[in-house]
Amino acid sequence: MTVKEHILALLDSRKGEYLSGEDIAGQLSVTRSAVWKAIKSLQTEGYSIQAVTNKGYSLSAQTDILSAAAVSRYLDARGQKLSLEVFKSVVSTNEMVKTLASGGEAEGKVILAEEQTAGRGRKGRPFFSPSGTGIYMSILLRPKLSAADATLLTTSAAVAVALAIESVSGLSTQIKWVNDVFMNGKKVCGILTEASLSLENEWLDYAVLGIGINVALPSGGFPGGLSEIATSVYEQDKPPADLRNRLAAEVLNRFLGYYEQLKNRLFLPDYRQRMMSLGQTVMVIKENQQQQATAIDIDNDCRLKVRYANGEEEYLSSGEVHIRL
Ligand code: BTN
Repeated sequence: MTVKEHILALLDSRKGEYLSGEDIAGQLSVTRSAVWKAIKSLQTEGYSIQAVTNKGYSLSAQTDILSAAAVSRYLDARGQKLSLEVFKSVVSTNEMVKTLASGGEAEGKVILAEEQTAGRGRKGRPFFSPSGTGIYMSILLRPKLSAADATLLTTSAAVAVALAIESVSGLSTQIKWVNDVFMNGKKVCGILTEASLSLENEWLDYAVLGIGINVALPSGGFPGGLSEIATSVYEQDKPPADLRNRLAAEVLNRFLGYYEQLKNRLFLPDYRQRMMSLGQTVMVIKENQQQQATAIDIDNDCRLKVRYANGEEEYLSSGEVHIRL
């Protein structure tokens, strides 16, 4: 962590209290002028830090910032092995982690951002990622998994997000095949897994698991037609204090639990229980063709079993088709 990040973490851990420049400088073994410079820079970045002569510096108690230190506070033993980094604004956390992965970065690197200027969704679509109201994070994984099994990363992550949201908010969630998390009929989280195949063996070289959760309403609401299909965990524009840090950690804790023994598919019962559209009519969209079918079940590989009007049944893989409810 840089001096600035250390100071932010320190102030964040004692939000609303005044810490003297001398104390901060002493704790971090830097000069008081280095502290002052870092505080100025944090204020310029938009952090609400009061500076009062003879008292010191205080971060507003209302502040809800994502920080590596705050997320770590809620991580369990497995999660403590992750290497977290939080940025105020990035182009795309997936892009950043992919670059790190190509450079040899180890499994367990996690990048979180307050904002993405070009967040990416599936099928080349943009992912709306405004500042301060969401969680945008990407995790670098190097699993011993074939490309065919990579769907398990995404589907287990969807369950991790669904359960994490439920545990911090007390509200219920649903999952739209294959990996969108919904609340009240609208999407609250999208997941984009990007993988690179090894040239030497049958395993993936790496996978980047990118998770975007709308936690609170963006100021001004969701733009354009997005408000009809997207929602946030909370309807107000400020999430409860520290909620995003706790939620991010909950997602990581739960996902790592599944990831450790992915092949056992521990997440499947919770996936099935929350799955939207089972027993209902869906539109199966394959290349440019559409056909109505009834969604019957999902199998152990998270393929969707559907029955067409002529009685024929088919298992659909998420890479080839998508469905409209
Ligand atoms: C989708 O619903 O189409 C997938 C959206 C995935 C968004 C997340 S936010 C963090 C990570 N970085 C990105 O650029 N995309 C993913």
